[in-house]
Amino acid sequence: MGENDIRNDGPCGHIILIGFMGAGKSTVGRILSRKLSLPLLDTDAMIEEKAQMPISRIFARKGENAFRETESQVLKDLLQRREPAVISTGGGMPMREENRQLLRSMGTVVYLRVEPQTVIKRLASDRSRPLLQGGDRQEKITELLKQREPLYADAAHISVDTDSRRPEKVADEIRKRINL
Ligand code: S3P
Repeated sequence: MGENDIRNDGPCGHIILIGFMGAGKSTVGRILSRKLSLPLLDTDAMIEEKAQMPISRIFARKGENAFRETESQVLKDLLQRREPAVISTGGGMPMREENRQLLRSMGTVVYLRVEPQTVIKRLASDRSRPLLQGGDRQEKITELLKQREPLYADAAHISVDTDSRRPEKVADEIRKRINL
């Protein structure tokens, strides 16, 4: 689907932010939620609540597959929601085809694009992301981003660059592009 073909074709017009770790989904989500007076939902926080443990522990105790199952379940739970919201997702949410379809059916999917070098800088002191622990961080980020880029693009209605831009500017561009 092309960038001009934006539609909220789901039961509800959510604004859904997708993109790699460090793209600014949570920060931009907070700003959008404030500016649009919409509630902010965060799928990672919902997963932690459902599992009653932090994400790092879910990965350590149950493994990535179990995390991905809960991630998909949380997305399905969100289908019940009628009131529009800004939804910030975990960076791996669009990896499953099923999730990409669900995301697109729920509202306008906004891909926050980021270059590997920016992720490396933004997450330099972050030790909480299980997928970035150990080994060569730069290599991991570059490789994962390369694998995921087409999946993000496939899931998104619009893409917005975030490199060297303040989150407020990113939020303003999103509002302009989706006429909010
Ligand atoms: C993940 C990203 C994280 C979190 C989990 C897995 C990923 O969310 O869901 O650690 O696969 O990219 P953020 O994108 O908010 O860091």
